[in-house]
Amino acid sequence: MKMTTKAIELTTKDIAYLKGFSLMIITGGSSGIGCSIIKAIRTVVPNIWVCNISRSKPAFFLGEFGSHQCLDLNDADALARTAEELLKRATAAPPGKILLVNNSGFGDYGRLPDLDRAKQLRMIDVNIRAVVDLTTRLLPALMIRGGTVVTIASTAAFQPTPFLATYGATKAFVRNWCLALNEDLRGTGVRTLTVCPGPTRTNFFKAAGFTKPPIQSGAASLDMTADEVAFFTLRGIVREKTLVVTGWKNRAIAFFGSKLPIVWITRIGARILRKLRLEQHR
Ligand SMILES: NC(=O)c1ccc[n+]([C@@H]2O[C@H](COP(=O)([O-])OP(=O)(O)OC[C@H]3O[C@@H](n4cnc5c(N)ncnc54)[C@H](OP(=O)(O)O)[C@@H]3O)[C@@H](O)[C@H]2O)c1
Repeated sequence: MKMTTKAIELTTKDIAYLKGFSLMIITGGSSGIGCSIIKAIRTVVPNIWVCNISRSKPAFFLGEFGSHQCLDLNDADALARTAEELLKRATAAPPGKILLVNNSGFGDYGRLPDLDRAKQLRMIDVNIRAVVDLTTRLLPALMIRGGTVVTIASTAAFQPTPFLATYGATKAFVRNWCLALNEDLRGTGVRTLTVCPGPTRTNFFKAAGFTKPPIQSGAASLDMTADEVAFFTLRGIVREKTLVVTGWKNRAIAFFGSKLPIVWITRIGARILRKLRLEQHR
């Protein structure tokens, strides 16, 4: 059996690897990339237990092997209680590895002095604190059963991002944290995978305050569908990658960007992102 999208395919061996997981815990599976990851893994492993954690229930049917935990990741106490429940569920789940997907996240676009401070702090809580908190609370279960911790970062993690200053910095944090965690976990049967998508057609841009998503068209197009990002994620898991930047154009930009002095790349980024701000106010 082969599973193909525009860009990638999963082989029979890949599918056998994914069938080694019996439980997936995911944040933000109600929309966008998270929703596509649930649908993609369910295509391959129909009876995997899926626990979705987000504020809104997924519109699609999670099925008899799925459950939804309504949780605002800003609420640290509720997160701690949910993690306790999940640890119990992990013990009760059928034998197999655990897949933890830290996907929830949001951005806030604009000049920092003009942005809402409380929203910036909530972003740090969801994009960083909840990732560290949930992962470290669930690690004991993953270390007993084996597993993979996937974190959805961004290509914004590779350089400072003016006009998305806090967002880019949160993604740089989780990228570095997850890469380091992978080394800390060496020999334990648990690995981490950091996925860095470029612009993806989801609700992200609207939630971040863009009136017009910065999605390009034609040969310069960098954008992808959430389904494509989901399949890059599954392929990264089965190939036991630690870092996946989705698509060769995003990889080239991340690579060449990292070769330039950081002050230059920040100035270049500011010019591009400031233009989007001007377009937003036209
Ligand atoms: N789209 C892009 O261009 C792009 C590019 C690079 C990286 N990413 C990253 O990809 C991830 C998924 O985003 P997306 O593009 O799929 O956008 P999305 O459709 O807006 O999904 C964001 C998800 O995060 C959840 N979420 C937000 N705040 C939350 C909170 N306080 N508590 C719990 N869950 C919360 C949302 O669930 P509820 O609303 O139900 O709570 C939603 O399911 C994010 O980490 C984002 O930073 C996106």
